[in-house]
Amino acid sequence: MMFDLIVKGGTLPDGTVADIGIAGGKITAMEASLDAEAAEVIDACGDLVSPPFVDPHFHMDATLSYGKPRLNASGTLLEGISLWGELRDIATVEEMVERALTYCDWAASMGTLAIRSHVDTTPDHLNTVTAMLEVKEKVKGYIDLQLVAFPQDGLYRTPTGRENVIRALDMGVDVVGGIPHFERTMQDGAESMRDLCEIAAGRGLMVDIHCDETDDPLSRHIEALAYETQRLGLQGRVAGSHLTSMHSMDNYYVSKLLPLIAEAGISAIPNPLINIMLQGRHDTFPKRRGLTRVKEMQAVGIPVGWGQDCVLDPWYSLGTGDMLDVAFMGLHVAQMSHPDEMARCFTMVTEVNAQIMGLADYGLRVGADASLVVLDASTPTEAVRLRPARLAVVSKGKVIARSARGDARLSLPGRPETVRRRHGVG
Ligand code: FE2
Repeated sequence: MMFDLIVKGGTLPDGTVADIGIAGGKITAMEASLDAEAAEVIDACGDLVSPPFVDPHFHMDATLSYGKPRLNASGTLLEGISLWGELRDIATVEEMVERALTYCDWAASMGTLAIRSHVDTTPDHLNTVTAMLEVKEKVKGYIDLQLVAFPQDGLYRTPTGRENVIRALDMGVDVVGGIPHFERTMQDGAESMRDLCEIAAGRGLMVDIHCDETDDPLSRHIEALAYETQRLGLQGRVAGSHLTSMHSMDNYYVSKLLPLIAEAGISAIPNPLINIMLQGRHDTFPKRRGLTRVKEMQAVGIPVGWGQDCVLDPWYSLGTGDMLDVAFMGLHVAQMSHPDEMARCFTMVTEVNAQIMGLADYGLRVGADASLVVLDASTPTEAVRLRPARLAVVSKGKVIARSARGDARLSLPGRPETVRRRHGVG
C-alpha cells in the first residue's frame, strides 16, 4: 500500500507508540509498525504526536490591534469593550482580514488547526462579519474556522442588536452568541437567553454565550441558559464561555447549579489568560482570581475546555496563539497539580475542545482528518510544562510547518561538551 505521508515512531498521548499512515488527507492506517511506501516520511523518534490543538474561544476581528486607537488604561473588561467600540468603526475589512490571516499563521505554526471565533455583530455595516467570512474561506485548507454571531454591546441594548445577529446568521455565520450580563437588566439578560436559544433551535445551530463574565456573584444567567437548553432539547450543542461569576457565588447555590448545567449537557469554556488579567479589577485585597470552578464542574461530568480569547487586542496585551500557554495558565489558576489533572489540561486543549466545537473528523484514528502535531516533548504533561517546539504540523494530510528542536549546545569549563534538550526528560 502506498501512502502520501507516514509519521513514524511517534508516542501518542496515551503512551502507545505507532506509525500513522496518511492518504488523501485522511488517516488510513495506524499500526505499531507500518512497512509501506510513502511519498514523504516524518520520523518522530519517540516524540509526542498529538491531534491538533483546538481553540474554542477567540476574537479574530479584534486580534493584533493592540494600542489601536489607544491603550486600555484601566485594564478592565468594560474599558476594553468601549475601546473596541471605537476601533470597529474605523478598521477596514482589508485591515481586519490581514490581521486575522497573520494570527492564523501564528496559530497554525503552533499546531492550532481549529478555532471558534466570536464576531461582533453590533455595527450595522457588519464589516467584521464580511471580513471574518472572507478569512474563513481563505484558511479553510488548513484551519477549521467556526464563527459565532456575537452582539458585543447586547442583544437589546442597541436598536439593531437582535436584527444584526439574524443578518449575520443569514450571511453564513455558524453559531449563535450572546452576552446576557451586559444587557440593561437581569430580566433582559434572562430574556436574551430564551430568545437566542429559540433562534438556535429554529435554525439547528449551536450556541456559545459569553455568560456571566463578571465578579458579581448574583450574575446567574447560566441558570437561564441551562433551563432554555433543556427546555428546547439543545443538549450537547450549547457552551457557556467564561462563567466567572461562579468563582464568587454562594457555595450552596453552586451545589444546586452544577447538576442543572450537567443535566442540560452544557459545556464550559474558561479563558484563563484573560480572566486572570481582567477579573478582580474592582477588588482591593484579597483580590479574587475570577476563574470559574473548573475541577468542580469536571467532577459532575460537565465538559470543560480551555479557550484563548484574546491576543494583542483591547483586552489583552500579550499572547502568542499557543494553546499550551493557555493550558499552562489554566493549570496554575485552577490549581490542577495532580498528575491526572496536569495531563487533563492537555486533553482540554485538544480532545475536549474538539468535542465542544462538534468536530466530527477530529482525532488520531483511522478515518479521521490527517491533522496532527509532533512536539519536542515525551508526554502531554511535559508538553504543558515546556510548551516546546512544534517539530511538525500536519493539516489535512499536508505538512504545513516544521521547526527545529530547542536544543542548547553547552561548553562548560571542566565538563565535556553536551547537547541539552530543553529541560526535557525524554
Ligand atoms: Fe470572549
